[in-house]
Amino acid sequence: MPSEDLKQVSFTELPRVAQVLADAFYEDPVARFVYPDDEGRVAWLTAAFEVQARLGLIYGRVYATDDYGGVAVWLTPSSGRLSLWSFIRAGGLRLLLRSSVDVLNRVRRLPGTAQKLHRQCVSQRHWYLLLLAVKPERQGQGIGTRLLQPVLKTADGDSVPCYLETANERTIAFYERHGFSICSEGDIAGGPHLWGMLRRSESASSAHTATPSTSSGHKARFESEQDRRQMDVLRKDGWPDHLPARSGPGRSRSAS
Ligand SMILES: CC(C)(COP(=O)(O)OP(=O)(O)OC[C@H]1O[C@@H](n2cnc3c(N)ncnc32)[C@H](O)[C@@H]1OP(=O)(O)O)[C@@H](O)C(=O)NCCC(=O)NCCS
Repeated sequence: MPSEDLKQVSFTELPRVAQVLADAFYEDPVARFVYPDDEGRVAWLTAAFEVQARLGLIYGRVYATDDYGGVAVWLTPSSGRLSLWSFIRAGGLRLLLRSSVDVLNRVRRLPGTAQKLHRQCVSQRHWYLLLLAVKPERQGQGIGTRLLQPVLKTADGDSVPCYLETANERTIAFYERHGFSICSEGDIAGGPHLWGMLRRSESASSAHTATPSTSSGHKARFESEQDRRQMDVLRKDGWPDHLPARSGPGRSRSAS
């Protein structure tokens, strides 16, 4: 057991996990973009998130609170970049078959942007937070924070970074509090804005003091010589040269 009220879920729990994800992401900009019809969105999202949670079980770890108040889906550093085969193995084909052409037309625009933002941020081995969700009525009670802890601790112990994408601007401050910084951003074609966020392991995290460089082209500024030295270390460790050490004024627009 990773923590008092957290557990790693099994395949039989996937439907419950998918339900939590669908409820939490109902208002998410990407969910609304892909499935604008309020009526059928929960059902479609439940099917889509069941595939993603299965990906997490096959290639990573899925945590939930004992009462399914929230879930976290991670891909392990050894999972690498997932292929089309990974998606099919997780039941993705069934999902595509039950999706309308319009939905598919929007879904197919997601991976390109997500992969681009991901590549811009990190090339070394890393944990990938695929999904983090807390039921709407349980949000703001510390569940999301607790769900992050097992993997953040492991990542720190192994000196491995963590990466995620979000389309919900409000979550940026939440992730910043847990050591993530914006490392890339961009729009899904005809759809919402996405932010890529990277968290270096604790051993290097005291370098969080530079202003960001984002798509708007600002140059990173360093507040001390120590910051500059730490950035040099990070760059040697795979942190791309053009990326910021932490987020800040570079956020360019609201994701609603
Ligand atoms: C983001 C989320 C996982 C945080 O979990 P949580 O248990 O609510 O968070 P905690 O109680 O540990 O921390 C509270 C902080 O979470 C963030 N938060 C709370 N509700 C949120 C919401 N509906 N949307 C976005 N962020 C939220 C805020 O930063 C909040 O701090 P604040 O009260 O000072 O503003 C959860 O709110 C959620 O599932 N949101 C909807 C789905 C989502 O956006 N997931 C993340 C995208 S990858």
